[in-house]
Amino acid sequence: MGTPSEEDTMDHHLILGGTGTTGRRVARLLAGRGEPVVTAARTPGPAAPGVAPVHLDWDEPATWDPALAGARSLYVVPPTLVVDVAPPVILMLERARAAGVGRVVVLSARGAERAPGSPLDRAEAATRSSGMPWAVVRPTWFMQNFSEGIHAAEITRGRISAPTGEGAAPFVDAEDIAAVVVALLTGDAPLGRAYDLSGPSALTMAEVADAIAAVAGFPVRHDDADPDAWQVAVREAGVPADYAPLLAMLYGVVRAGADAHLSDGVVAATGRPPGSFAAFAAREAASWRRAA
Ligand SMILES: NC(=O)c1ccc[n+]([C@@H]2O[C@H](COP(=O)([O-])OP(=O)(O)OC[C@H]3O[C@@H](n4cnc5c(N)ncnc54)[C@H](OP(=O)(O)O)[C@@H]3O)[C@@H](O)[C@H]2O)c1
Repeated sequence: MGTPSEEDTMDHHLILGGTGTTGRRVARLLAGRGEPVVTAARTPGPAAPGVAPVHLDWDEPATWDPALAGARSLYVVPPTLVVDVAPPVILMLERARAAGVGRVVVLSARGAERAPGSPLDRAEAATRSSGMPWAVVRPTWFMQNFSEGIHAAEITRGRISAPTGEGAAPFVDAEDIAAVVVALLTGDAPLGRAYDLSGPSALTMAEVADAIAAVAGFPVRHDDADPDAWQVAVREAGVPADYAPLLAMLYGVVRAGADAHLSDGVVAATGRPPGSFAAFAAREAASWRRAA
């Protein structure tokens, strides 16, 4: 752990957030293709075949350059649970360019371009003007929010608490997000554009609950939480106080029915359609059953 060895640092793909929902899938897919990979995180974990871990902390810029050294490409998962991600992403892009990184793919979120001046919009603008070949991926809500993210623990208690009303979202599989990122990092998909990513159909939270219950073998229901009460609950569950209103605002977009449209980025980058919620749920059924 720590600084990767000389051999590891030659011509690798550097994956920030390399132990997270998208990063570790990107790393696994790259390693499966025989591509050299370095995964960065505060607690980067053990090495795996083809994957070298490195310590990198967004809050400690002194840790960035050792990780960037020798990277051919960079996947940027911005600091998580941070409201204004623009300043650190802008600084990371400057450091990456100085280190000679040859291409950069930045994780944003669907709708960022519709919020001019927002942190993700400014991070995207910096990506476009970074001086490196670039791409932006803008996924909608992850299916994995129900298996490893914000709703995973409560699913095992048979509920999904979300202030989304009857609003629907076209949840996207993190496996598809990772496949898009890999296509961009390896040159299989064109750079110089943003890819909006969604799954193949929009589901309400009640439909998500039904789809999970159908495979998990226990009842799951959607609790349509009051937005203010929900913010308090997620803060009590550990979400930072300044980030909870952002999450509630984003779920408000779903509630208003303004996030249900489909996007074609998965097929545009990979040539194949995105996976369905039913396929995702079938993969996760055993782990939901075990955890309940
Ligand atoms: N979930 C959704 O529905 C959704 C939808 C659209 C966009 N997004 C975006 O996706 C991003 C999260 O990506 P993800 O789900 O792939 O990641 P994730 O599962 O939230 O994992 C975060 C990763 O970043 C690392 N990390 C956290 N804080 C760090 C720090 N201070 N310094 C260095 N590394 C740090 C973590 O490892 P350590 O803790 O060991 O450092 C981990 O590897 C968020 O920015 C969110 O805006 C999410």
